[in-house]
Order: sequence, then structure tokens, then C-alpha cells
Amino acid sequence: MNILHVSAECYPVAKVGGLGDVAGALPKYQKKQGHAAMLVMPMYKTSFLDKYEWDVVHKGQASLGDYSFNFTVIREKTEVLGFDLYQVDINGLLDRPKVYGYEDDPQRFIAFQTAVATWLQSWQTPPDIVHCHDYHTGLLPFFFKYGYGFRKLEKVPTVLTVHNAEYQGWLDWSHSNWLPAYDEWKSGLLEWNKTINPLASAIKNAWAVTTVSPSYLIELRYQSNGLEALFEYEKGKCSGILNGIDAELWNPETDILIDSHYNLKSVTTGKQDNKKAVAANFGLSPDRPLFTFIGRLVGEKAADLLPDSLAAFLREQDGKVNVLVLGSGEPEVEAGLQGLKGYFPNSYDFYKGYSEKLSHQLYAGADFLLMPSRVEPCGLNQMYALRYGTVPLVRRVGGLKDTITDIGDNGNGLCFDQASVSDILMTLNRALDLYQQPKKMEALRKKMMQIDHSWEKTVSAYINLYNTLHTKK
Ligand code: ADP
Ligand code: GLC
Repeated sequence: MNILHVSAECYPVAKVGGLGDVAGALPKYQKKQGHAAMLVMPMYKTSFLDKYEWDVVHKGQASLGDYSFNFTVIREKTEVLGFDLYQVDINGLLDRPKVYGYEDDPQRFIAFQTAVATWLQSWQTPPDIVHCHDYHTGLLPFFFKYGYGFRKLEKVPTVLTVHNAEYQGWLDWSHSNWLPAYDEWKSGLLEWNKTINPLASAIKNAWAVTTVSPSYLIELRYQSNGLEALFEYEKGKCSGILNGIDAELWNPETDILIDSHYNLKSVTTGKQDNKKAVAANFGLSPDRPLFTFIGRLVGEKAADLLPDSLAAFLREQDGKVNVLVLGSGEPEVEAGLQGLKGYFPNSYDFYKGYSEKLSHQLYAGADFLLMPSRVEPCGLNQMYALRYGTVPLVRRVGGLKDTITDIGDNGNGLCFDQASVSDILMTLNRALDLYQQPKKMEALRKKMMQIDHSWEKTVSAYINLYNTLHTKK
């Protein structure tokens, strides 16, 4: 089957969060199972672009309102990622260092999608499936069905995967001329709550919708930043497919970013060696349990609760624990986490920013990973933690609920219910108690490391879904 993924992120080219990890892995494992999987993304200014060689496969022209632009589609020559990777170059709009965060992001992603649809219209045989990820690519199903310029794509089955419904790409109707010409009788299929809503449009127009965990799909019907009724209405075409992880890349036996390799047998000493290395870099003692948080410092992750929770924990357990936070996001949270450094110089540190290397070192070297998320569509961190023998401490929500159960129920981590300082504190203390029972800790580590969340196992769920769409063609 010819499958084209369309995504704003793809690891290792450009990654902001888990979307990048999924987009970099899912096509690779689809390809391994014999499908012609491809991915197209915007051509940002990345070191990846300079490092590899590219073929120009298409040159085209499209417009964004009154602005007409040329675009070029390039393909990486050697399939270094394990699948065909295409990038769309639109001078001035996409070729910037960051993925998101520009004032003209709406124009950037609309132009990207228009270019993708224009390019696909030129294919002799269009792909069997176009798989869109999140709102940045959510207008494509509508374009295919009702865009005047894309009639060849009308019968191409589309899938939308919702990685995060918090962000929807709302656009005032006054900007509707940014979209390529379409059948205006169908405008209602672009709209939600009186604005153009690319995520809602994708849910309405895609042939099938998936969420990245089964629990998240249920939650979206009750809480989805305004789309609750839509998820309820469209539930017939929605399904939850739990993400996998790239178990080749995330493997403590071979991971090139960590200091000391280990496996199931050597997990206790292996993790201790990695902890030593991390602790030395941050001036912390290697003889204490190391707690970590890795992620975007935003409300969804309940990062605003970290400064108070961690301060209380570090105060209570003075000198007995280490905490290291890696992340960036809301300035108040960053300031709160920065502020703690002065109070607990020997047991706490905060690395503000993004570091792929440090994240791997922490999965390997930490004993516990905290995830108090208010919303967690899937969450990959807890799956990486399992693979590296690091105990996840998670709130029971979304994908966290689907992957982690409490050790009290013979499970694989510690769970709590409320996104509150008291629940977090209680769980950190339960974790410390567990750490003080080395045999139990070692048995749990071994149990966690044997859990298989690899894509190999889950890729077939998508293929089965694509097959059902094909029969509807
Ligand atoms: P989300 O996509 O909502 O941010 P996920 O748990 O799905 O959450 O994925 C987050 C991914 O981003 C993981 O690979 C995690 O290790 C990585 N990550 C998040 N913040 C950072 C950071 N500051 N530095 C390095 N990696 C990070
Ligand atoms: C999103 C979600 C996260 C999920 C990731 C990959 O960014 O916030 O929970 O794991 O996408 O699907």
C-alpha cells in the first residue's frame, strides 16, 4: 500500500514533542512491514537539511490569497530514515529555524497544505492513503473533497490522527481567501463555532479519525477545548490506537546518547553508572534516588504544579533525594523552577531548554519519572521510562491510564488521580519508600523493561484501518 504521511514534525529532522517521534517512526515500521510509506513535511532551516543530499522531485506554483508563491518538493536521496522523506520548500514562509511560534503560522501551514495538495494533484497515481497528523495538516481532507484544483484527489482516503486537540488552528472567516478555491456551498465543513477550524474540519472530512490512545478518545467527548459535541457526533468513524515507540532508537543496550549501556540483567548497575554520569554533570550526589520531569512546561502537563510540589518534597526529604527537571515553556513556570535552584543547590537542578541527549541520559540515569499531566493524549515519556527501567509516576489520564497501572494492583508504576500538589507529593513519597526496598525496585525494573510497546506490535492496527477505507473507495 502507498501511504503518505503529512506532518509538521518528524524526528530527527524537526521535533518539538511526541508528534515528531511518532512521525519519524510510524512510516519506518510500516515500510518494514512491506508498505511504501512516505512522509512529507515543511522544509525548515535544519541541520538535517544540510547534512543529507536531496533530489528535486517537483516544482510548482500556488497562492495564498493575493500572494502567489513558487514551491519545490525535495526528497532525501538515501532513505536514511527508513522511508521516503519529502520536504516542501516555500521561500520566506517555511525555511525558518523553528517549527512553530511565528505570528504567520496560520499562513505557513495553509500554504504548506496547498502546496502538498497541488503536488499530489500532479501524481499520475495518487497515494492509496493520505494520513494527516494534527491540525497543521487538517485542511487536506476538505481540500481533497471540495477544492476545485484537486479533483484527482477526491477519492483518496484520508486519515486524521489527533495527537493533541488543544490546538486547533482557528482562523477568522475574513481570511478564508487564504485557502485554495473551494465549493462554497460546503463552507460548513470548514467551520466550528463561527470560525474556520482546521482540526474540526479534519474530523468532519477525513474518512477515519484516530486518537493516540483509547482513553483519550473517550475523554475528548467530555473535554476537548470546544469540540466535545463534534467528537460525540463523529464517534462512528473514530478509534483509539495507542502509539508505539521506536524500540531501536530507544534501547538502553545500544543508545548512543547515554553513558553506559545496559540490559535486563545489568539494569541495576547500568542505571547506577548512568546516574553517576548525570549527577556529576549537575553537581548532585549519585547515592540518592534521582527524580526527573522531562517535557513541555505547560498547563496540559501540569507543569505549573512542579515548583510547589518539588519544593515541598525537597524540603521534607532534605538531603535524601535529587530532582532534575528538563524542559521549557511558560515563563512563570520556568521562573519558578529556576528559583528553586537557590534553595536546594545540592539536590536540585533545572535545565531550561531542549536537549535530546540529556533526555536520553535522564531516562537511563533517573530512578523515577514524574508525569502529573492534566491532559495526556498518549505520552511517550512513560513508555521510554519503562524501556529504560525508570519507574513512571503518572496521573491516571489518557494514554498514561492505558499504559501504566499501579504496583498496588500488580502493575508497572505509581498512579494518582488528581493534578494537585498533595497527590504529587504523596506519590513522590511512595516512590521514595519503594526505592528503599532494593529487591522490590529491581524486580519492578525488570518487569517494566519487558513490556513491549514497539511499533512492530501496533503498526498493524493502522494497516487494518487503511484496508477498511480502501474497500469503501
Ligand atoms: P508531548 O508530545 O505532549 O510533548 P510526549 O510524551 O508524547 O509529549 O513526547 C514528548 C517527547 O519530547 C519525548 O520524546 C520527550 O523526551 C521529548 N522532550 C520533551 N521536552 C524535551 C526537552 N526539553 N528536551 C528534550 N526532549 C524533550
Ligand atoms: C501529543 C500529545 C502526546 C502524544 C504525542 C504523540 O503531542 O501531547 O501525549 O504522546 O502527541 O502522539
